[in-house]
Amino acid sequence: MPLLLAIMASGRGSNAKAILEAIEQGKLDAKVQCVISNMPHAPVLTMADNFGVPTFCIFHQGLSRENHETQVLNVLKDYQIDYLVLAGYMRLMTPTFLSAFHAKNHYRIINIHPALLPAFPGAHGYEDAFQYGVKISGVTVHFVDEGIDTGPILMQESFPRLDDDTLETFKSRGLALEHVIYPKALQLLAQNRVRFIPHSKTGRVHVEVKAHAVC
Ligand code: GAR
Repeated sequence: MPLLLAIMASGRGSNAKAILEAIEQGKLDAKVQCVISNMPHAPVLTMADNFGVPTFCIFHQGLSRENHETQVLNVLKDYQIDYLVLAGYMRLMTPTFLSAFHAKNHYRIINIHPALLPAFPGAHGYEDAFQYGVKISGVTVHFVDEGIDTGPILMQESFPRLDDDTLETFKSRGLALEHVIYPKALQLLAQNRVRFIPHSKTGRVHVEVKAHAVC
């Protein structure tokens, strides 16, 4: 049985595309049940439509956060979903929304962030890391909790900032890495190899990746 996913995205959708391509190429044992955007005319909607995936636009403007999330949940209730995948979804979620997905120590919303968390959280990961002058940066796949990019980390990959990098070349190298690691990270979930372990001292939840499926 493939891993059942819904994707939420606000814009371009290159990560959503990488996930759909990985599925087509047999690298990711998953099915994308639907794609939801909060932005009308977001390119991700046309892209997903071309893959034959049902798409929905729920424009957030003029709606309270709660009302917007209720409408999102209303769409999602028609689909069986194992994980909600955020792929460039640029809005925070309320604890009520998160609690519709999370059980104690089991996270079911996952995100990709364009920096090596916990460095440079927020909406401008590449810009912030580049302007800071890092020599090494990276990308992070993490589960979503109530903080801003603070949830348990599933996978990270680093890349160097080259001396002749511009922000554009820096970003495009990072984005290429995102497209590789997001499908890889999701495949760990498809293979049931991910376990959440509360850390006894900090109470923080760590993610352990097993060599074989977790029973
Ligand atoms: C990606 O770089 C992703 O890491 C970032 O938005 C971009 C979306 O691109 N996400 C965040 O910054 C979340 N805080 P895409 O629409 O082409 O996948």
